[in-house]
Amino acid sequence: MTDSATDQASHVFGCLHGMVRTAALYPRMHALTVKAKQTLHDALTAYLSTHGRLVYRFLGDVLVADDRILPRESLLYRQFLAVCQNERQIGSISFIAGVEPREVDALLEAVTEGVGGEPSAWTSRKGLSHVLLGPPVQPEQGGGETTAKRAYYGSIDALRDIQATVRARSPLAVEQLGTLRVFTSTLLEQILQSPALVLRLASIKSYDEYTLYHSVNVAVISIGLGLVIGLPETLLREIAMAGMLHDVGKIAIPLEILRKPGPLDEEEWQIMRRHPVLGADLLSRLPGSNRLPMIVAFEHHLRFDLRGYPSVATGWAQHPVSRLACVADVFDAMSSRRAYKKAIPNTDVRGFVRDEAGRTFDPRLVRVLDLMLGQLEAQAPEGGLNERSDRVSRA
Ligand SMILES: [Fe+2]
Ligand SMILES: [Fe+2]
Repeated sequence: MTDSATDQASHVFGCLHGMVRTAALYPRMHALTVKAKQTLHDALTAYLSTHGRLVYRFLGDVLVADDRILPRESLLYRQFLAVCQNERQIGSISFIAGVEPREVDALLEAVTEGVGGEPSAWTSRKGLSHVLLGPPVQPEQGGGETTAKRAYYGSIDALRDIQATVRARSPLAVEQLGTLRVFTSTLLEQILQSPALVLRLASIKSYDEYTLYHSVNVAVISIGLGLVIGLPETLLREIAMAGMLHDVGKIAIPLEILRKPGPLDEEEWQIMRRHPVLGADLLSRLPGSNRLPMIVAFEHHLRFDLRGYPSVATGWAQHPVSRLACVADVFDAMSSRRAYKKAIPNTDVRGFVRDEAGRTFDPRLVRVLDLMLGQLEAQAPEGGLNERSDRVSRA
């Protein structure tokens, strides 16, 4: 699906939602309702004349058009998606070229009054052939890995967008963080259904856009660690968002330092070591933002023994989630290839982490990492875990 097709699909969904809202306020034969139905019919006809088919799927609070997640619309129409799935038993709407006005009428009836049972039986009873309805997708039928990968790359895009905004010294919009949150929630949902995704997703690497992929990987590994501890879903979501944003301060570090094809000298390190404070400062200025990402951005390079950076007062109480992010951060960084070092195999990274228990890392979290890797490696296909590729393909 091209970007312009995605924009059109977003527009069509806006027309659908507009029709439902108008019909909630006015009778079916009122001029405004008739006009809203006509607007949807026109938008559909225009889309289908080029593309032939348009399928919307509702996956919890995520809206997917054909194969693209629509993050903005997922947020805007969250309530409508919930009503469709929970009260109307509708989980997908497919449009095929040739939609007739009477089929738009039937669709309006379905999304406002429900279909009283199996949606496909309802569509055939109504004689619809260009508007087809499907039931809500049960979690295990959701094509978990594909959805997770789309959310993974969606998170990369959202972080890239945040990065461009900050670099341009423009204020971040609440919506940009909302988009990242939608993708983060989708990733979490898929990992909750299939924890084996943690290592499969975290093995996606990019040499050129290291920080973006590393940020998503830290979120994914943090979810995996949190799952082993048994943390509730609400906290896992916040931990994942904190992982996504932990290195946001690197945006303020000069690119020649970030991309230097070799180890940094002392002066460059001094600049690099500012990124936790810069990140926390950036996050503290966001309206309505939760404090956890700010705390984790500030503390993720603090070691368990409070060495590391930035320097803090003796007796500083490091947040437990910062300690968890520190383990996820080092695990991903060590297992990634950089200009000045090769990727280190998981077994060697584990050895390093174990050796650093009580110094760099909280010993309890070292055990959690061991447990997580033990559980996930047992589920992984042979040879699948250390398959770390720098060639990133979009699924
Ligand atoms: Fe960092
Ligand atoms: Fe990091």
